[in-house]
Amino acid sequence: MINDLKTIHDHAREDNIPIMKDDGMAFLLDYIRNHENIRDILECGTAVGYSSINMANIRWDMQIDTIEVDPEMYKQALLNIESQNLQGRIHCHLCDAAEFETDKRYDLIFIDAAKSQYRRYLEHFLRNALPGTVFVFDNLQFHGIVDDPQLSHNRSTLQMTRKIKSFRDKLLKDERFETTYYPDIGDGIAVAIVK
Ligand SMILES: C[S@@+](CC[C@H](N)C(=O)[O-])C[C@H]1O[C@@H](n2cnc3c(N)ncnc32)[C@H](O)[C@@H]1O
Repeated sequence: MINDLKTIHDHAREDNIPIMKDDGMAFLLDYIRNHENIRDILECGTAVGYSSINMANIRWDMQIDTIEVDPEMYKQALLNIESQNLQGRIHCHLCDAAEFETDKRYDLIFIDAAKSQYRRYLEHFLRNALPGTVFVFDNLQFHGIVDDPQLSHNRSTLQMTRKIKSFRDKLLKDERFETTYYPDIGDGIAVAIVK
């Protein structure tokens, strides 16, 4: 049984599981650490549970709902979460994030699932936000391709990165949020606070 967070991290990297970049993770954890009101978190895109375990470890009363569509990832996430004895505070849901329904309100909503669906997730989860709720989006650079499409010769990647760019441009102008974009942190992170 895996019972060490570094081992979970290293196994994920070896298996090419797209866990958050280390500096992006550090940024997100610092943000949560510095905002003591953040307790209830929703995460779209669990992968193997690495980011949710890190977030849950910040304070003893953090509660996390995390959503994963891939059954194999979900299974591994459950094992990893149990290995950290966090199953009472991290609730993993096997479904498409865009179909997840709950009446809960969250302090922070971390969007890290299908990149082409960010607009959909944002509109869907606004009902679970209050003024002050923080949305965090990762991968708004997508390895630099969003701002430099020539880096990719793959048609589907180009279509996806066009969608990311359109989402990012609209988010920065969206008056419902106070948004800050950090292009050089992680894979491009935006923090959007509901007004
Ligand atoms: C970038 S990884 C998440 C990494 C994780 N947040 C971390 O840093 O440890 C994205 C995950 O989202 C999942 N995913 C993709 N589309 C999804 C969807 N529609 N609903 C839920 N999860 C989805 C993928 O299977 C993948 O495991």
